[in-house]
Amino acid sequence: MSSGSGGSGEVGATWALIAAAGFGERLGIDRPKAFAALGGRPLLAESLDRLDRCELIDAIVVAAPPGWEEPSILLAEELTASKVVACVTGGATRAESVAAALAEVPDEALVVLVHDAARPLVGDAVVERLLAQLGEGYDGVVPVLPVDDTLKRVTGGVVAETVDRSSLVAAQTPQAFLAPALRRAFSGDFAGATDCASLVERTGGRVAVVDGDPRLLKVTTPEDLALVESWL
Ligand code: C5P
Repeated sequence: MSSGSGGSGEVGATWALIAAAGFGERLGIDRPKAFAALGGRPLLAESLDRLDRCELIDAIVVAAPPGWEEPSILLAEELTASKVVACVTGGATRAESVAAALAEVPDEALVVLVHDAARPLVGDAVVERLLAQLGEGYDGVVPVLPVDDTLKRVTGGVVAETVDRSSLVAAQTPQAFLAPALRRAFSGDFAGATDCASLVERTGGRVAVVDGDPRLLKVTTPEDLALVESWL
């Protein structure tokens, strides 16, 4: 495994990048969110272990919080996560962290999945759905959930508009992309993007959706952590 930059030299068709470099201030703990305790091990362990065991994935790159590269490498070793080929230092934004991880993916890669470590309960079923749909000729595929609440646009504390939610969905991760489409998306300005699909869309890519999973909840608060722990 490499902990620096530059191509790893490993070749495989399908790569998974785990964005784990966020601090997660709303959890209110003394360490990055990826190292919050979940079921007796770091939160990052859950997605790392699950993606490593997924037969559809050939190689994994982790974007670790700055200063937490070594613990991330040790965690991968403890889990015997043999598909982890690199652990890079994450950036100031999610997109910068993904860009750093993407730099480790060799030209030969065909497909890149990007996943948030903050969504620990990633399963084989959603990866299967993503890759099957990607094979139908799209540049990217994202898992989505319907939006159940009524949505309102608010300006200065006053409702400006009630938004028609019939065509709206909430996007989750992992998100799957053809490697060239993702590279093109990251070749321009990407700093403010909150997901990778938005960058692929912006660069002309066609992005399809598949059913997401309520258990792919993103851990943001201590309540989220407790809920995900109850699902383990
Ligand atoms: O902050 P938020 O929970 O929305 O971040 C989503 C994912 O992106 C998390 O898994 C987090 O670790 C990751 N992230 C990152 N680098 C950053 C900010 C967030 O890898 N600078």
